[in-house]
Parts: sequence; C-alpha cells; structure tokens
Amino acid sequence: MSDKRPILFFDSGVGGLSVLGPTRALLPQAPFVYAADSAGFPYGTKSEAEIAVRVPALLGRLAERYRPRLIVIACNTASTIALADVRAALDVPVVGTVPAIKPAAEVSATRVIGVLGTDATVRQPYVDDLAARFAGDCLVLRHGSAELVALAEAKLHGRATDPTRYAAILQGLFGQEGGMRIDTIVNACTHFPLVVDELKAAAPGIRFVDGSAGIARRIAYLVGDQDWPSAAGIGRAVFTRADAASEALVPALATFGLDRIEAL
Ligand code: DGL
Repeated sequence: MSDKRPILFFDSGVGGLSVLGPTRALLPQAPFVYAADSAGFPYGTKSEAEIAVRVPALLGRLAERYRPRLIVIACNTASTIALADVRAALDVPVVGTVPAIKPAAEVSATRVIGVLGTDATVRQPYVDDLAARFAGDCLVLRHGSAELVALAEAKLHGRATDPTRYAAILQGLFGQEGGMRIDTIVNACTHFPLVVDELKAAAPGIRFVDGSAGIARRIAYLVGDQDWPSAAGIGRAVFTRADAASEALVPALATFGLDRIEAL
C-alpha cells in the first residue's frame, strides 16, 4: 500500500525553498507540504520568546492537519530557538536547519569566517556553541540582516532588487575588525541561498556555504527507504495569511513543484 503522508517544510516565508529544492531532487516520489508563516514574517526581528511560543504552536496545527511523516524546520531562526521544544511537543521526527559553520571551517584557508543570518539567529548561544565546537581556531564574525531577507522575498515575488544593496549588506561583515580576511561566508538563513548569485557578484572570490544539500541528504537518509506513492509527489504550499503577496509567489512556487496553494 502506498503511503501518502507528506514531508512538511516550515519557514517564515520563501526561505525554506532553498532546502526543498535539493530534497525534491533526491526524493522525486515524495509528497511535500511547504508551510510559510506569512502572518508572522519576518522572524529575524522577533524576540526569542515570540518565536518560542509561535513556532511549536503552528507546527502542532500543521501536523494535525497534514499528518506528515517528517517535519523540516527550514529556518535557522526557528531552529536555533525552538527546535528542542518542537521535538518535545510532537510525535513526528523533526529535522532542523542550523548554520553551516562546520563545513565553512573545513574549507577556510584564512581561518576567518563570516556568518550571515538574521539578527535573532546570530545572537543565539547555539551559534556560540557551533563556533566553539567546529571553528575553535577561526575568527568567526557575525552579521544579521533583515534587509537581505526582504531582498530574497522580493526576488521570489518577481520584483527586481537593487544590486548595490548586496555589497552594502556584506560590508557589515567585511567592515568588522579582521573582516577583510574573510574567505568563507556561511549563509545562515535559508532565504540567503536564494540570492547567492547576487551575493557572489557583490563579493568576488568569497566562498559562500550553506547547509541545504547536507540537510536534503539527511532527510533522504531518514525517509528514503519508506513507502511512497507511485506517481511523482504532489506539492502544496500553505500560508498562514493568503493574500495578494502569496498569489504573486505562484510562478516561483510552481518551479519548486508546489502547484496547490491554500491558507492555514
Ligand atoms: N528563513 C529564516 C531563517 O532561516 C528567517 C527569515 C525571517 O523571517 O527573518 O532564519
């Protein structure tokens, strides 16, 4: 009997698509639900307390409605703050998304790494811990940018973005003491791989690293040998607020196999 239970992806907005993309490539038969908390967006400027209450409650509702086989919190902000609480509250395996500091430390030649995330993510003790465990011999500089999240959203909504803004945002890393020696930047927000070409154009020679491919492999490892529907998996997007803005995402969502749109 084919098992129709989906894999549920969760983010504040479109960022989790950067994890969904490589996951679909590994699991073409899998049904996906992509949930965006558009009513709560953005997360990066919220307090820890707000995220810690909002994310487990929403995931509880989503799990009840869609009965997923696995949940992916495809958001660094939500994962670094609420992953443990969500795991404790739900009886479903949960995969989180945390800054790819370890792979960055493995490749940095200058031993100076930039971590680009949301304001909420870069101040988390979780990031201190990753830096201490995996990049103890590196200088790890951090910068939070709500503007870069907004630029990634604008791009996926089909709006042109100002190319000069990317260099200005990266200056938040390069302008810190030791920042000119950065050779590797961790895209520690799932929105940022969606604008990695723009970031690379603004910082030639810098290597950008993110966790998407590794998370996709982890998901495939956890569920790859399960039973799947025989036809290619269907995808639906669910928004906590469906409005003109979510409608504008329809073409971008379709490129990720998300053909049905609904409101929570
Ligand atoms: N995509 C999210 C992350 O990975 C958060 C973006 C936001 O809502 O501020 O952190």
